[in-house]
Amino acid sequence: MDTALWVLGRGTGVVALVLLTVSLCLGILVRSRTTFAGLPRYGVTAVHRTASLTATGLIAVHVLTLLLDPQAGLRVTDVVLPFLGSYRPFWLGLGTLGLELVALVTVSGLLRKRIGERAFRAVHLTSYGLWPVAVAHGLGTGSDAGRVWMILLTGLCIAAVVGFGLWRLGDDFGQRPPARRLTTSASRGL
Ligand code: HEM
Repeated sequence: MDTALWVLGRGTGVVALVLLTVSLCLGILVRSRTTFAGLPRYGVTAVHRTASLTATGLIAVHVLTLLLDPQAGLRVTDVVLPFLGSYRPFWLGLGTLGLELVALVTVSGLLRKRIGERAFRAVHLTSYGLWPVAVAHGLGTGSDAGRVWMILLTGLCIAAVVGFGLWRLGDDFGQRPPARRLTTSASRGL
């Protein structure tokens, strides 16, 4: 049972990190107003939302299993108050901070119509801060941080976010492609 909790606790953390990465990249894609892999914009938005909500659920399982797992030595206060843990308090505290930011972004997303577009967008921007916090937490506290597969996976996540981030900061980001000129026999002077 302890082994199952240990594996589930770490596995859900890793998959949540990958989904947060996917969600961040898809969020940028939605903002760019382009389509992707044949999906219309609302389709990309739906996948973005599903990835975020699934990551939130997995983070909840991650925390609950590690709380139940005696090997993790986690206390309920560690889930609420960052940086006061008994083991690697700084890196564990980043996890707590990440959880609080995930909760904020998720709740504001679910209440979008009630809180209004401006407040929603302002809170949603914290996703850019949440992602590096989650990456640092995984590398700093995870027992798999030194394994090749974890280094490769985290490297892929970082490469994806850096790539999408640079695109987001580019001058032509979000510009609609120029409308294609219609070449008719009239315009060709025939
Ligand atoms: C944004 C939210 C979070 C994400 C994305 C996340 C992700 C991760 C990842 C990727 C790992 C490394 C797993 C491994 O090495 O195999 C990890 C480890 C860990 N996380 Fe989180 N985590 C989050 C929040 C939290 C919170 C709120 C807590 C508890 C306060 C927590 C407690 C732990 C502990 C104790 C470990 C170490 C497990 C081990 O020794 O391998 N995490 N987390």
